[in-house]
Amino acid sequence: MSKKTKYVYVCQNCGHQSPKWVGRCPDCDQWNSFVEEIPEDKNNSFVTATMGHPQSIDSISLDPQHRQYTHIKEFDRTLGGGLVPGSLLLLGGDPGIGKSTLVLQVAGKLSENGLKTLYLSGEESPQQIRLRAERLSIHTEHIYVITGSCIEHLFERMAGLSPDLLVVDSIQTVHTETLPSAPGSVGQLREVSARLLRWAKETGVPTFLIGHVTKDGAIAGPKVLEHLVDTVLYFEGDRDHMFRIIRAVKNRYGSTNEIGIFEMKETGLEEVGNPSRIFLEERPNLASGSVVIPCLEGTRPVLVEIQALVGPSPFGMPRRTSIGVDHNRISLLVAVLGKRMGLEMGDQDIFVNVVGGLKVDEPAADLGIISAMISSFLDKPVNKDMVLFGEIGLTGEIRGVSQPEIRIKEAKKMGFSHCLLSKSQLTNLKTFQGMKLIGVESITGLMDVLFE
Ligand code: TYD
Ligand code: MG
Repeated sequence: MSKKTKYVYVCQNCGHQSPKWVGRCPDCDQWNSFVEEIPEDKNNSFVTATMGHPQSIDSISLDPQHRQYTHIKEFDRTLGGGLVPGSLLLLGGDPGIGKSTLVLQVAGKLSENGLKTLYLSGEESPQQIRLRAERLSIHTEHIYVITGSCIEHLFERMAGLSPDLLVVDSIQTVHTETLPSAPGSVGQLREVSARLLRWAKETGVPTFLIGHVTKDGAIAGPKVLEHLVDTVLYFEGDRDHMFRIIRAVKNRYGSTNEIGIFEMKETGLEEVGNPSRIFLEERPNLASGSVVIPCLEGTRPVLVEIQALVGPSPFGMPRRTSIGVDHNRISLLVAVLGKRMGLEMGDQDIFVNVVGGLKVDEPAADLGIISAMISSFLDKPVNKDMVLFGEIGLTGEIRGVSQPEIRIKEAKKMGFSHCLLSKSQLTNLKTFQGMKLIGVESITGLMDVLFE
């Protein structure tokens, strides 16, 4: 007689386990997230029990990793310089953002050097993938496509092929026969990813897992996967806009500061070497409510345009709408403007937009946002050759921000001639030829310099 199978209940949000079904997860407070699963077999765990001897840190050989460059510069940059052998990478992003396109392009580039890719698709038919390759002008015999969802079958079929790159599109569609739960459940994700991890480490083949993102922006089964993999990349961008940003949020082989910027074109993703140009391309001339700020995306300076529209509210309830900047930040700045400058916007509708669909969340944007609002409120255009950056405190003081030199240099490169910044920060800066630096202490001094 077979032994009665014991189940555990696992929270699909955070992986918390419970012997009984519960309605609300005691760990992450998620409702109705528990699903029946077969408990993991401890003997079957992929963690090896071997332990080395203690050794002094200096004596450990540096053994430089032979990274495989993809020759897509923006992508290599994000990875910290090419693919590391045996690394497991998770690529997350909204549906339709271009994840499959990106990995296919990477595979295409690798195939130019004769490297073999195996592309497992659980979502699309081979024809669909061929069609995409056609659009991307990828013609090669080095990319192998396999459809299906069973990991055991994948390992079987892979024998003898020895690929140089494995792509699993997407990890949520793959399952193992050893677990009865549905593909995409936490138990399946954990088990399948652990097996792929073991495989990648054993064979030294870099492996991409493509992950779907839930409504609130996390990769489904987030904690489980993020712990396991070496690198987590997020592909972000606005579907209505053509540019895409790839960001490393975890990277065991490089910094997480780097981003890669692409533009989605008819023929696939194209690298954007000079992002500022794209974001400023359609900037209106002499319009009130528009300013340009140099913000930092990782270590890269990017100039973006911020637009504000301030006008009397036709209804009793003034509206505050912001796209790309934090809503609370706007409320705070409106309050500071009223209190410190006597510019009362309490009865005004206020709309703030970061052009191009970029998200700006650094405090350095404060000065730009407030200036755009003032400019629109007074209907006076800001000096169009000026960029500005600075954080604004509650007393209206303008504070210094990180890396001012990089921001100023980028503005200069893009042809701007004036830069507004915190007065105290200005005293520590060298001069920049062809760039007039204007220091302001507090927002009360803004009026004198904004509209020159
Ligand atoms: P896709 O890579 O399928 O997205 P994901 O795998 O993240 O779901 O990309 C889908 C979108 O990209 C689709 O709406 C069409 C667009 N696209 C282009 O604009 N140009 C192209 O060359 C390709 C291949 C796709
Ligand atoms: Mg896809």
